[in-house]
Amino acid sequence: MFKTIIEPFRIKTVEQIKMTTPEQRQETIRAAGYNIFALRSEDVIIDLLTDSGTGAMSSNQWGGVMRGDESYAGSPSFFHFRDSVHDITGFEHIIPTHQGRAAERILFSVMCKPGDVVPNNSHFDTTRANCEFTGAIALDLPSPELADMESDYPFKGDMDVDRLRETFAKYGAENIPLVMITVTNNSGGGQPVSLANVHEVAAVCREFDTPLYLDACRITENAYLIKQREPGQGDRPVREIVHEMCDLAQGCTMSAKKDAIVNIGGFLATRDPELARQHKDLLILTEGFPTYGGLAGRDLEALAIGMQEAVDEDYLHYRIMSTRYIGEHLRDAGVPILWPPGGHAIYLNASRFASHLSPVELPGVSIAVAMYELGGVRACEIGTLMFGHRDPETGEEVGGPRELVRLAIPRRTYTQSHMDYVIEVVTQVFEMRDALPAYRIAEQAPFLRHFSAKLERVE
Ligand SMILES: Cc1ncc(COP(=O)(O)O)c(C=O)c1O
Repeated sequence: MFKTIIEPFRIKTVEQIKMTTPEQRQETIRAAGYNIFALRSEDVIIDLLTDSGTGAMSSNQWGGVMRGDESYAGSPSFFHFRDSVHDITGFEHIIPTHQGRAAERILFSVMCKPGDVVPNNSHFDTTRANCEFTGAIALDLPSPELADMESDYPFKGDMDVDRLRETFAKYGAENIPLVMITVTNNSGGGQPVSLANVHEVAAVCREFDTPLYLDACRITENAYLIKQREPGQGDRPVREIVHEMCDLAQGCTMSAKKDAIVNIGGFLATRDPELARQHKDLLILTEGFPTYGGLAGRDLEALAIGMQEAVDEDYLHYRIMSTRYIGEHLRDAGVPILWPPGGHAIYLNASRFASHLSPVELPGVSIAVAMYELGGVRACEIGTLMFGHRDPETGEEVGGPRELVRLAIPRRTYTQSHMDYVIEVVTQVFEMRDALPAYRIAEQAPFLRHFSAKLERVE
């Protein structure tokens, strides 16, 4: 009925943003070695570095924080957390962890051994690292549709089921301790996975008697995109779609810093009592007693409430439509982006945006630096700085698989006028795209170089 998407909340507390000038920001980013990770957040006007742990909690969640019971064992906050997660997911054994990667470490330590293979639509980097740390191979099987950045295909996050079958044939089910599906597919451009695809993958897993686990960080956003885009799903409650996705799985890991809108927290869930026992043994070793994991009672309360708020459809409608709003406006202005928009982020196609720069001239860095200098907007390069490397023999830079800039949208944190401002900043950078300079890496660490690298502008 109305085209304006309003935020379905009012603002009770505000956080001051320090306003700066382009001249100040040019100096700040130069002093940071042109690395956006080296900026102090107070020098950023709109921070789109990540949607993880950066959401705004509700007054109900803050009320829960005050009610949190800090008993070491058997806290009522644990039971509140456990019942809420069980209500949404249906999983029986639920283990709190301080964040997603702790759940991943425990899951893979218990289930994997050297030489095993763990297929996923796309492993997130911590998932891959924790899997490989056990000596297993983390295998990505993304849908071939993901390669086309501009098509309207609605579920580019799907797993390639034919390749999953080939993987079972090649490695043998005895070497595949579990299959994972990441919803939404963060490393695959935040694209959703269809319910049909989860069914197909689950059927293959059943055939080979292999457990399926979900990386459920953004499961409610994924479910809302299923409701919007998948034939036959439009009239179903999101809660029911989430439950159906979980019904098809043996368990999940979840970083609750995403859809459950908490600043810290996560969990590991399973239906298997024997695995749960082994998970808890490891949990006690590094995270804490099973009724608090790595969390305080107040965090468990906030998480319990956040899980319920995450399936609120007015909230999800606003969330998904406001991400789409940014995507549509940028596309209308001619800015090349990964299409269609997913739930949590907009990805700029840096190769087309700054087409005069080759991957080793770091087009994504150039766009991100220009966005910061011009408007104080912080976004993240996902390209050669993050995934390329320097050849140890020739010393030459080798480009990454694709050049993207991610604008991740924190939940309930910014208003529509903030997003209109972001659209203006990106559009203005796009208008001056031919003048965007090349960058080169002056200093880099041997791994995860994007966090600490120092860069130079090529004059
Ligand atoms: C898909 C996915 N899995 C796992 C993680 C890891 O979660 P955490 O940062 O809470 O350890 C993330 C975090 O960004 C993610 O996006």
